[in-house]
Amino acid sequence: MPRFACIVGARPNFMKMAPILHAFAEHPTAEPVLIHTGQHYDRNLSDVFFEELEIPRPDVSLGIGSGSHGEQTGRLLIELEKTFVESQEGGKPFDRVVVVGDVNSTMAATLAAVKLQIPVAHVEAGLRSYDRRMPEEANRIVTDSLSDLLLVSEESGVENLRREGQPDDRIRLVGNVMIDTLLRQVRRAAGQSILNDLGLQQGSYAVVTSHRPSNVDDKETLRGLIQVLIDVSRSLPVVFPVHPRTQSRLESFGLLPELQAAEGIKLLEPLGYIDFLALTSQSRVIVTDSGGLQEESTALEIPCLTMRENTERPITVSEGTSVLVGSDPQLLDQHLRAVLDGTYKQGRCPKLWDGKAAERIVTELMSA
Ligand code: UD1
Repeated sequence: MPRFACIVGARPNFMKMAPILHAFAEHPTAEPVLIHTGQHYDRNLSDVFFEELEIPRPDVSLGIGSGSHGEQTGRLLIELEKTFVESQEGGKPFDRVVVVGDVNSTMAATLAAVKLQIPVAHVEAGLRSYDRRMPEEANRIVTDSLSDLLLVSEESGVENLRREGQPDDRIRLVGNVMIDTLLRQVRRAAGQSILNDLGLQQGSYAVVTSHRPSNVDDKETLRGLIQVLIDVSRSLPVVFPVHPRTQSRLESFGLLPELQAAEGIKLLEPLGYIDFLALTSQSRVIVTDSGGLQEESTALEIPCLTMRENTERPITVSEGTSVLVGSDPQLLDQHLRAVLDGTYKQGRCPKLWDGKAAERIVTELMSA
């Protein structure tokens, strides 16, 4: 019976691994073992997703926690290697490690596995922003170059991997597993009371998220973004669930009072998956620096103004609903007006973002 070590660590991993675990349930000869590194540990960034997405409790929890990149990656490597070695010594070696996305846990698990000769499958392979200032770009490059099964969500990923010299027999275009979760949950989200609770009307508010170090770790950049959000909130109410990284920067830079004082902005704690989907799926526009949200907005056909200079998910711009506005207030304002007056370009959902990516992934894993 093939044993798969399925690695999750941070918030965006959970919605990607959930459908893969559900698809494994259809293959009684597979033995998936869920390992949670604990990169994210707050209830709102972790436990809530396990409950809402019906992810089984982790078989192994490593409790790594936060730290600088070096500290966190070092601890991840040590503990993941121990876990893999213990399973080998206990006579139950893993046949394959399955990693998703591009967080530090993804890269560390890959590195620990290949040194122990365990093959790695990477879900969401091949995405490139070509911006090496992003920690995720380093994680993506290392993970892809060491994985032997590259499971790709969009065509650009196939092209990038080929350009990097990956042979075709390692690459599979399987579609977007995050959309599996979205399609499974969107009806349930529509029944949530959060819009009422917040006094919002369907289709007449903006959802904002921001947590990228490039946007929130520099005081002047963050100040500029806040100014933009305050401007936006004069035309549309803004709902802003604040990531812990952003919260701590807003506090330390002394920028929180200005944001709290803006009448049109509702600051919230990070939300669970269902409430957040309830908000995004019924919003007028999404303003974000999240990669996953660019994809979700594309599937939801909600305009997405992306506060980044580049994207590793170009299909969300070429076919979807996302437009890159960087941190330029004028550009954001221009696109926001287009959304409000109905001239914003309508996107469509790319091929293979059909709710069945996890089935295709598990079929590939079982035959690899
Ligand atoms: C990580 C991922 C990023 C992903 C994001 C989603 C990397 C390099 N980055 O960034 O790709 O988009 O998750 O959230 O892996 N903290 C808490 N509670 C937690 C976890 C973190 O308060 O449960 C705080 C800590 O102060 C920590 C900070 O958030 O230092 C940043 O956490 P970290 O995991 O280092 O990176 P994220 O910014 O969350």
